[in-house]
Amino acid sequence: MKVVRTITDLRAEIARWRSAGETVALVPTMGALHAGHIALVAAGLAIADRVVVSIFVNPTQFAPHEDLARYPRDEAGDVSKLAGAGAHLVWAPSVADMYPEGFATQIVAGGAALPLEGAFRPHHFGGVATVVCKLVSAVTPNVALFGEKDFQQLAVIRQMVRDLALPVTIQGVPTVREEDGLALSSRNAYLSDDERYIAPMLYKVISEVARGRDPQDAGNALLAAGFSKIDYIEVRDAETLAPFAPGSGRPGRVLAAVWLGKTRLIDNVAI
Ligand code: PAF
Repeated sequence: MKVVRTITDLRAEIARWRSAGETVALVPTMGALHAGHIALVAAGLAIADRVVVSIFVNPTQFAPHEDLARYPRDEAGDVSKLAGAGAHLVWAPSVADMYPEGFATQIVAGGAALPLEGAFRPHHFGGVATVVCKLVSAVTPNVALFGEKDFQQLAVIRQMVRDLALPVTIQGVPTVREEDGLALSSRNAYLSDDERYIAPMLYKVISEVARGRDPQDAGNALLAAGFSKIDYIEVRDAETLAPFAPGSGRPGRVLAAVWLGKTRLIDNVAI
């Protein structure tokens, strides 16, 4: 498994595969890989001949007060996990490769990007959409895979691909969880032992909301258990993320973002 940095080297590798008629899957990541990312690689291997994994902690999707500087980074560990998982190529560009001097073009993400995370992190999905568009245009994959853990991100990317007619199929992959239900996330590394102990309650209460528990009541239960703040616990239309209309026959999704000490956790479940 090779590691490349520049778009030129990336394209040279991909051109070789393309000339042999091979299909390509892209798994975009910010590194600090866990079993959830490995599940994306496995899903990519099942549907394409070659799997490229990008590792890039994208500064434009973090606000100045967010955790860009302390976001976990372990490229050597990531590369060895990816080799073990059977990925074919790692693309780990520098910030200067992705945002060279004079970079000035941004995607404005509307629609599914506006509520929930969009209300609490207004800069976030514009940064995600811009970098994903650039990753896709550099790799030109047949398919790009994203975890359902970031459910709104998946909806925003599907919308961008549809709106801009990008020639790629977007494949969502179910969330991988610890045995106690906590969704795997690179940010779980921030949790203290005490926080880690109560963190699985998030999945428990949103599953209860999916079965009819009042979201406000679920939030109060989290606060009583030691969570510090609820950004939102809401039931939404699973495709548009507009407020869910019960009885509409449309798919629903419970989405939540909550704080445990200084760590912000997000999770979601189907109704
Ligand atoms: O989900 C992530 O890790 C990131 O938001 C992504 C899609 C790699 C874009 O930076």
